Amino acid sequence: KRFSSLDLKGVADYIASGKAKRIILFVGAGISCNAGIPDFRSPETGLYHNLQRLDLPCPEAVFELEFFKTTPKPFYELAKQFFPGKFEPTLTHWFIRLLFDKGLLLRCFTQNIDTLERLAGIPESKIAEAHGSFATSRCLECGKQMETARVQECMQRDEVPACDHCGGLVKPDIVFFGEGLPAAFFERATDVCRADLAIVVGTSLQVQPFASLPRRVQCPRVLLNHERVGDMGTRADDVVVLGDCDASLRELAALLGWTAALAAVAAG
Ligand code: OAD
Ligand code: ZN
Repeated sequence: KRFSSLDLKGVADYIASGKAKRIILFVGAGISCNAGIPDFRSPETGLYHNLQRLDLPCPEAVFELEFFKTTPKPFYELAKQFFPGKFEPTLTHWFIRLLFDKGLLLRCFTQNIDTLERLAGIPESKIAEAHGSFATSRCLECGKQMETARVQECMQRDEVPACDHCGGLVKPDIVFFGEGLPAAFFERATDVCRADLAIVVGTSLQVQPFASLPRRVQCPRVLLNHERVGDMGTRADDVVVLGDCDASLRELAALLGWTAALAAVAAG
């Protein structure tokens, strides 16, 4: 057993002892909930629960490539709600940024497309955006890129963006069901072998292949989430802290004596 105790104090001791120099994060929509962006699967508040009004065959259809090709409007209506630019990073994002500043961040694997990790100042080289992002968009027919600002303008007017070159349907480079993940995700996935501490935050671990990454690490693992997910908590070295992730990381920062440093990075 590598943690002194299976709680935040044990995690803080482990980091303070210098044994965690290459920390790997696996995050999902839950880390952006406190920024005002709903997650997908939480009952009542999750996007999939609230998609009923769009009259879809199933909630996930909004992110299915074949459905999008014939019926792009529901996606664009949804995208309007969480398009980057409207939201600020959360304490969890700032904590990850602090890990980077301290030279402890190996990589942050994120399923989120809101780009709040970048906004928190974590360099792109330290992030693996498994499901792409809204940062770029392109035509599904000819591949020509369309500027993000123009895609956003169309969305605000409730129009589906059409390619300047061929009139084809334009789609942000976020990964839909039926599409492969970015090559960078697989290149960076080898990090799982090098990590000395894994922290899983705000994800239901229900979407593959991302969900299998935390199983592949051999180092001690921590889960900070509202609910128990995946196989987290089944190993002798797992710490599970149920509750709000910002509250847990605020406490972890306090235990490490990082409260002021965390406030300083969050102040920008
Ligand atoms: P989910 O909505 O499936 O899971 C979010 C998790 O975060 C749930 O377990 C919540 O209980 C938890 N949670 C929410 N708020 C929290 C908080 N403040 N503190 C702690 N935990 C909290 O979101 P993801 O796992 O990210 O794919 O979903 C994975 C993928 O499914 C998404 O990337 C998306 C979706 O289909 C694409 O868009 C391609
Ligand atoms: Zn085109």
